[in-house]
Amino acid sequence: MSRQSTEWNAGTYHKVANPHVDWGRRVLARLPLRGDETVIDAGCGTGRLTAELLERLPTGRVIAIDGSANMLQEAAAHLRPRFGDRVSFVQADLQHLRVAAPVDAIFSTATFHWIADHGELFRRLFAALRPGGVLVAQCGGGPNIAGLMAEVKRLQQDAMFAPYFRDWREFWEFADATTTAERLVTAGFVNVATSLEEAPTALAGAPEYHEFLETVVLRLHLEPLPSAALRTSFLDRLTEMSAASDAPFFLDYWRLNLSGQRPERGEP
Ligand SMILES: C[S@@+](CC[C@H](N)C(=O)[O-])C[C@H]1O[C@@H](n2cnc3c(N)ncnc32)[C@H](O)[C@@H]1O
Repeated sequence: MSRQSTEWNAGTYHKVANPHVDWGRRVLARLPLRGDETVIDAGCGTGRLTAELLERLPTGRVIAIDGSANMLQEAAAHLRPRFGDRVSFVQADLQHLRVAAPVDAIFSTATFHWIADHGELFRRLFAALRPGGVLVAQCGGGPNIAGLMAEVKRLQQDAMFAPYFRDWREFWEFADATTTAERLVTAGFVNVATSLEEAPTALAGAPEYHEFLETVVLRLHLEPLPSAALRTSFLDRLTEMSAASDAPFFLDYWRLNLSGQRPERGEP
């Protein structure tokens, strides 16, 4: 989150991020909880998974952290009436995270690939955990959406769009499992586990594909385009290419699973 906007169209994200909720539920199922812990949801977005995390913590609390004010506002509107003061909201950049008191666990989905320096991120998360606390997370990794990004790159070089992408640099960190395990160990984590899994995702049709790319995948790729007409043309062209392909409206997602534990006091 450096030169680009940290903001999202949170209302639309809340409606369309169904693949993220499906993936996130499986990550949440891997988080061991008694029900009375304090857990950070790191990159909570609009809080659909935060709500499911809170349901698993009948006497616990969640600190919902996100860099986007829009996302936090949408999350608060859904979660405050249901969970009251068992959930608190913090606008912060996870890359520079500091917590007032260490927490029992950190849960995170579909967020870490937006952060460039995973070594520093993992050091910050480690420092936010109490001894024995766990990190259970998933983000984009490996060859995540490589097929889509090859099409985006070709389109960025098209005469209609190229002038606006002269200084373009890709910003995602789609790390692999081995590198991530090394980074977690370097940050101090034990019981480290990492894996990559394929998560092929088909959207229902052209309008859904267009809206999903605009809101979720390419919101920052559209930023350099100076008019709504150009942004729509860019999305229209991608949607037409996908419609004409062998796998219409398909996204070649890959997810990186990662977990680790802060050693109990006295452990090496
Ligand atoms: C794709 S959304 C995922 C939201 C939610 N976890 C889900 O699975 O639906 C990514 C979220 O990460 C947040 N984010 C990205 N980079 C961040 C950073 N450096 N610090 C805090 N939040 C960040 C974004 O604002 C956004 O809400």
